[in-house]
Amino acid sequence: MNPTRRKFLASTAATPALALTGGAGLAQTPTKNPRIAEENSKTGTTDWQLTRVRVNEGKYRTSLIEGYVSHQSIKAGETLDFFVSTKPERDFTIDLYRLGYYGGKGGRHMKQLGPFSGKAQPVPEMKPENRLRECQWKASTSLKIPEDWVSGVYVGKLTTISENESDPYWQSYVIFVVRDDREADVIFQTSDNTAQAYNRWPENESLYTDPRGAHAPGVAVSFDRPHGLYCQIYENPLSVGSGEFLLWEFPLCYWLEKEGYDVTYLANVDMLEPGSIERGKVFLSVAHDEYWDARQYSRMKSAIEGGLNVLWLCGNSVFIDSPFTASSSGQPNRILTRRGCFGDLRQDETENYGHLFDALKSTAPDERKIMGVRSVVPFNGGGDWTCRKADHWIFEGTGMKNGDSIPGLVGWEHHGEPDPDLEGLEVLAEGKVWAGGVREGKYTSVIFPGPKENFVFNASTVFWNMGLSTPPGHWAPYSHYSRPHGPDERVQRITKNLLNRAIHGGE
Ligand SMILES: [Fe+2]
Repeated sequence: MNPTRRKFLASTAATPALALTGGAGLAQTPTKNPRIAEENSKTGTTDWQLTRVRVNEGKYRTSLIEGYVSHQSIKAGETLDFFVSTKPERDFTIDLYRLGYYGGKGGRHMKQLGPFSGKAQPVPEMKPENRLRECQWKASTSLKIPEDWVSGVYVGKLTTISENESDPYWQSYVIFVVRDDREADVIFQTSDNTAQAYNRWPENESLYTDPRGAHAPGVAVSFDRPHGLYCQIYENPLSVGSGEFLLWEFPLCYWLEKEGYDVTYLANVDMLEPGSIERGKVFLSVAHDEYWDARQYSRMKSAIEGGLNVLWLCGNSVFIDSPFTASSSGQPNRILTRRGCFGDLRQDETENYGHLFDALKSTAPDERKIMGVRSVVPFNGGGDWTCRKADHWIFEGTGMKNGDSIPGLVGWEHHGEPDPDLEGLEVLAEGKVWAGGVREGKYTSVIFPGPKENFVFNASTVFWNMGLSTPPGHWAPYSHYSRPHGPDERVQRITKNLLNRAIHGGE
């Protein structure tokens, strides 16, 4: 054991008095970033929410108005193109909002674009070799991102303009990240690869709908298409166009900005850029971060070795090896293709789960080396998050005892089976999940030390962020006959303990 790891292990026990009283001062004092605090002091609005959405019969599309943008993420000073289709032809506007806390409103109106003349844009043919549907629409408008726009997740609310009083307006979203290059305490990565992998727009073209099987290799999806209705766990038409962000990720964003953390945002693709995550003190993988390019894995592994702290506030993450490739027009990183999976699935796992994973072969390194745990088949279900190491510092101030549970916090996907070779790994929470309400599985939440007094935590549940906040309009999920309660002081305190240790160290 090297001295650094010994020091980490020595510091893992909570101070008993603090654990009992909940009086640890550090956890109450997140870093205040002037930019995030100032941004959130500006006037917010709840108008970022959609009001009128009509999903086509047969699901997925909102062809009355739908669109996409030219980049998963973009920096101030760069130009973002908006591609919008309206059928029937209608004029429309684009209202841009930055999502955050904003006194509880959840968003700030940044700019209105338009009105524009809308028309129907073509639905692309499906490529028979990989089921790819790639739009090549005419840009409706472009925007040079203003220099004073703070890094964040932004939505564009697309709204048709009624032609007369008997013609109602219709809406949907586009979504993108504004990023920067500054050093920051917290790097928040959106899980937009996974949202695209599950996107069935236009007819049924996600990475899961190949007749050969749900995990067939070689199937591809393009970012050059609208996000259809998200249909896996529950269907919320008022999130159409935003992928998975509003469903699973926004409660973390809303809470971090409420607490004033110094946070900056990235899309998955930004990890390919050298230095993109190393500039942070702590990196957050958020909610359902299943689809990674193997180059993301390499960057994460070297960043942990370099001292980065990582919080996996997620489930089923780093599971599918999905390289980025360029669009047919040559724009880099606009297509994701399922190549295989990270790590090895055991034969009994594939056999016990029907033919769902038959075609899935290992093509990338073991995800446990960067996450501590992995997606254990079956990795979906619902359960309670049960404390197994109450004297650990992550539980400081929560009052939790071994065996205490946070009801319904585990779901709908999780991690388990810790890596036996990771020195210093500790199990923090562990218990049962039930897939389909009856089929028993097991999740395990862990922490392990990095080589430079850094650490890696894995909450092992997609629903972790449901325990932090409920932003305006948010719907609590219900899946596998199970559901989380919503905000929970223990989840909030554990998350603060982790962030503060990552940002300020253990002193
Ligand atoms: Fe998943």
